[in-house]
Amino acid sequence: MEYTTLGSTGMEVSKICLGCMSFGSGADWMLDEDESEELIERAIDLGVNFFDTANTYSAGESEEILGDVLSHYDRDEQVVATKVRFSGANDHRNAEGLSRKTIEQELEHSLDRLGMDTVDLYQIHRWDYDTPIETTLRALDDAVRRGQVRHIGASSMWAHQFQEALQVSDERGLVRFETMQNLYHLTYREEEREMYPVCDKEDVGVLPWSPLGAGYLTRPHEEFTATERGEHELDYGTPYHEGPGSEEINERVQELAADKGVTMAQIALAWHFQNDNVDAPIVGTSSVEHLEDAVEALEVSLSSSDVAYLEEPYEPVPVFGHE
Ligand SMILES: NC(=O)c1ccc[n+]([C@@H]2O[C@H](COP(=O)([O-])OP(=O)(O)OC[C@H]3O[C@@H](n4cnc5c(N)ncnc54)[C@H](OP(=O)(O)O)[C@@H]3O)[C@@H](O)[C@H]2O)c1
Repeated sequence: MEYTTLGSTGMEVSKICLGCMSFGSGADWMLDEDESEELIERAIDLGVNFFDTANTYSAGESEEILGDVLSHYDRDEQVVATKVRFSGANDHRNAEGLSRKTIEQELEHSLDRLGMDTVDLYQIHRWDYDTPIETTLRALDDAVRRGQVRHIGASSMWAHQFQEALQVSDERGLVRFETMQNLYHLTYREEEREMYPVCDKEDVGVLPWSPLGAGYLTRPHEEFTATERGEHELDYGTPYHEGPGSEEINERVQELAADKGVTMAQIALAWHFQNDNVDAPIVGTSSVEHLEDAVEALEVSLSSSDVAYLEEPYEPVPVFGHE
């Protein structure tokens, strides 16, 4: 495993963050508790120390599973991230959003489910158009002062919103967002235009979600919907396969994988590992073998001409995931 310092937090995290969205129930492609346990244990064996979950994943089951498994390990060694904004196990008017009430209630619930006193990184899952950002930041600042949260982060929003939040923190002397978890992969690179220059200037750690395009970059494009998860992505409306350059990029990933004798997923992840914008991609997998593939991808080197070849067909696509 390789490790990196996460933005300005000073925390040392594995260069692979394990995504926990597939732990729990609610869809056929999700893992039950025993299967999740096997995956998390293997991840820890391989040196992963960084886990990303959310109050909303499987209505809180993902947090429960992660917390149960990590309780058998030294908590000090693990970096645990969760999120608030969408409703979790509780489904009522004040279970979602970023009001002080929602944040305080949902944080308590997340900590209970995780079985932890403190979460290392607490992320707002999206912008809340109904709550002033100062209210949200004051509630988060208090959570840090109470010792329930160590660092705060944000996920998928417009760069001007993120910059505004950082400015409010600085002007009011409140904790500031130290990470950005956003959608980024070879067939969705819109974040390079506005968000990444902000993150670079502000020393914000970057954690791409769906780094493999939710599976699109792991198999030939005509097979994207061959898995249950792929079918789900199509129903959900993910557009990664629809960009004008997507098929050509997918084919170039296939070609380079064949040339180097590695998997497509390894090429798509190696692209993240060499990318100066990225700290740690949040890999989602329901398979121990695929997790091992991801770790081995740290050893796949891409030359600058390989990178240029992979990136060249990309054309801008409509912004996705800021809802
Ligand atoms: N902040 C947000 O709004 C947000 C949104 C979405 C996700 N996330 C976070 O990001 C994490 C990852 O998201 P994601 O699951 O969409 O990411 P992803 O890693 O881009 O895609 C996962 C898909 O790729 C497949 N895959 C992974 N490795 C593979 C390999 N080596 N060979 C073949 N197929 C492979 C998986 O299939 P198998 O299961 O068969 O391996 C799965 O279908 C989530 O768990 C969550 O923590 C955050």
